[in-house]
Amino acid sequence: MFFVFPSAEAIASYLSQELYQKIQLNPCMVLGLATGSTMEPLYADLAKRLQQQPLDLSQLTTFNLDEYIKLPPEHPQSYAYYMRQHLFDVLGLCPQQAHLPNGVCTDIQAECRAYSAKISAAGGLDYQLLGIGTNGHIGFNEPLTPFDSLTHVVQLSENTRLDNGRFFDNFADVPTHAITLGIQDILNAKEIVLVATGAHKAQVMADLFHSPIDESMPASALKQHPNIRICIDDAAAAQIPADQLQHVRE
Ligand code: GLP
Repeated sequence: MFFVFPSAEAIASYLSQELYQKIQLNPCMVLGLATGSTMEPLYADLAKRLQQQPLDLSQLTTFNLDEYIKLPPEHPQSYAYYMRQHLFDVLGLCPQQAHLPNGVCTDIQAECRAYSAKISAAGGLDYQLLGIGTNGHIGFNEPLTPFDSLTHVVQLSENTRLDNGRFFDNFADVPTHAITLGIQDILNAKEIVLVATGAHKAQVMADLFHSPIDESMPASALKQHPNIRICIDDAAAAQIPADQLQHVRE
């Protein structure tokens, strides 16, 4: 379950090659995408690969995990902006195929229901990419989120706002709420890959490793999924027993 790579770049290169091949084999793929610093090397590698050897992406559909409430898509810290900047604009993906929850709609509850329904209507997620928060959140599913949750509004924990505050000028500017895919939506994906890199993720990786399947550790829900890989670098693997790790050295 825990696959260890020598560096964040090695994970990016491995997963970008894997994604490239999957899209090549199945151009109609439905891809679940994540944001955060962890994904940046992967998106940069994938964008470069696709620029060097273009594929027809017109049938590809993507769904992002989450979005802040009250940040419009043109706000530089919105996830819509992040995705355009790191991936969508480079790949030429249009809004009709590259979906994010709308954090500035008038009826948020209707938006939540519609988002889960849109994923089901697309045939479900074939492959879900995930990062992880230092408190174990996946998407924005904070500790104690029910494992049977669908897309919902979440009040962000202090821990998450502090972690994500590094992207904002003032802590007061960090949104207090977000829309996130629920844990059940994530578990419905056919294949899941969680990525964690850096020494600051070593503690949460150890917590996840030792955790039973329990709502106090949202990412532990993934332990019940039949097709989950957790890709980490040496730094993030530092506190997991060495004999439990599978090394990927290419
Ligand atoms: C945010 C996102 C998560 C992401 C997490 C980790 O809270 N909602 O989806 O996994 O940040 O981000 P980073 O990769 O920057 O550590």
